Amino acid sequence: MEITNVMEYETIAREKLPKMVYDYYASGAEDQWTLQENRNAFSRILFRPRILIDVSSIDTTTTTLGFKVSMPIMIAPTAMQKMAHPEGELATARAASAAGTIMTLSSWGTSSIEEVASTGPGIRFFQLSVYKDRNVVIQLVKRAESAGFKAIALTVDSPRLGRREADIKNRFTLPSNLTLKNFEGLDLGKIDRTDDSGLASYVAGRVDRSLSWKDVKWLQTITRLPILVKGVITAEDASLAVQAGAAGVIVSNHGARQLDYVPATIMSLEEVVNAVQGKVPVFLDGGVRRGTDVFKALALGASGVLIGRPVLFSLAADGEAGVRKVLQMLHDELELTMALSGCRSIKEITRAHVVTPWDNPHVAPRL
Ligand code: FNR
Repeated sequence: MEITNVMEYETIAREKLPKMVYDYYASGAEDQWTLQENRNAFSRILFRPRILIDVSSIDTTTTTLGFKVSMPIMIAPTAMQKMAHPEGELATARAASAAGTIMTLSSWGTSSIEEVASTGPGIRFFQLSVYKDRNVVIQLVKRAESAGFKAIALTVDSPRLGRREADIKNRFTLPSNLTLKNFEGLDLGKIDRTDDSGLASYVAGRVDRSLSWKDVKWLQTITRLPILVKGVITAEDASLAVQAGAAGVIVSNHGARQLDYVPATIMSLEEVVNAVQGKVPVFLDGGVRRGTDVFKALALGASGVLIGRPVLFSLAADGEAGVRKVLQMLHDELELTMALSGCRSIKEITRAHVVTPWDNPHVAPRL
C-alpha cells in the first residue's frame, strides 16, 4: 500500500515491532489525556487563508540558531532508535542531512555522539539529560562539542520519569544486544530489568532530581554551545529561561510522556511566545503530524517544530528511506499549505492566518 501521510507509518510499525518496543515508543503517561490532546488541539485551530497572491514559487527555507535549514521541521531527540531498526540513529542522521534539516541526538541513543558524527556532514544538536555525576555531564558536553554538534537541548521536564503504564506492565528494558552507547565507557550503558519500567528505575538511580535554574547557568560555564531549554510550557518559566541565558526554548511536554493533563503544546505556545518577547526563538514539539500543524505552530509564533514518534515509526517500517519519506511528506504538505494560504515564504506566515478558540468570539470557531 502506498504511504500517503505520516500517520500511516504507525500502523506498520505496530505490526512489525515487538510489543514491548512499540508500547515504549507509542505510550504517554497515565491516562494519556495529553497524548490525545497534543493531536486534538491542532484541529481546533483553523485557517484564514488569503487569496489571489502569486504563489508560483514557495520558499520553505529558514534558519535555526543561525543555521540555514530547508524547512522549519527538525528531528526531536528520541531514545534507543536501534530498537526500531538496526541502523537506528545513524539512519536518522543520514535522513536529516539528506533533507537539509537538523537532527537532535538523545543522550540515550543506542548510537554514540561520535558514530552519529561519522555519518557525514549535517547540523546536529545534542539532547542532554543531567546525571547526578557532573563529570559524566561534562564529558558528554565536551564530546558533543568536539564532534561538531551545534547546540545543547537541555531536557528540563524529567527529574523523574513519567508513569507510562505499558512500560511497567511490560517490564520495559533495553534488549541485551543494545546499550546506551554514550555511556558505555562510563559503565552506565545498561538498563537492568526490574519489577518496574527498567528505564524509570535507571532514571531514578542516575538522573539529578535537584536540577535547577542555577544549573542552566553552570552549563554555560562548561560550554560555549547555545542552550535550548526543552520542556518549557508556561510564561513564567519562559521568562526565567531567557534570564538564565537560554538561546531558545522548546515548548514541549515530552510527547505527553511526563506529566499527564498538561495542555497540548500548541495550546501553550502563544503564552510562551508572548513571554519571551522575541528575545530568543521558540520551538515546539508534540503531535506534529501534518504540514498544516507546522503552519499553525509558525502562525502562533514558533520559529520551527520538531517531530518525535514519526521518526521512530518510519524507521521501524523502512529505515532511512522511511525517515526521508516522513520529512519529504511534511515538507510537501507545508509547502502546499503555504500556497493555499497565500504565503510564499516562512516570514509571510502571520498570526492573522489562523483563528483559535481564544480569539475574538465573533470570528473564532465555536468548538
Ligand atoms: C522521547 N522524547 C525524549 N526527549 C528527550 O529530551 N530525551 C529523550 O531521550 C527522549 N526520548 C523519547 C523517546 C520516545 C520513544 C518518545 C516518543 C519521546 C520526547 C521527544 O523529544 C519529543 O518531545 C516528543 O517525542 C514530541 O512529540 P511527538 O512528535 O512524539 O508527538
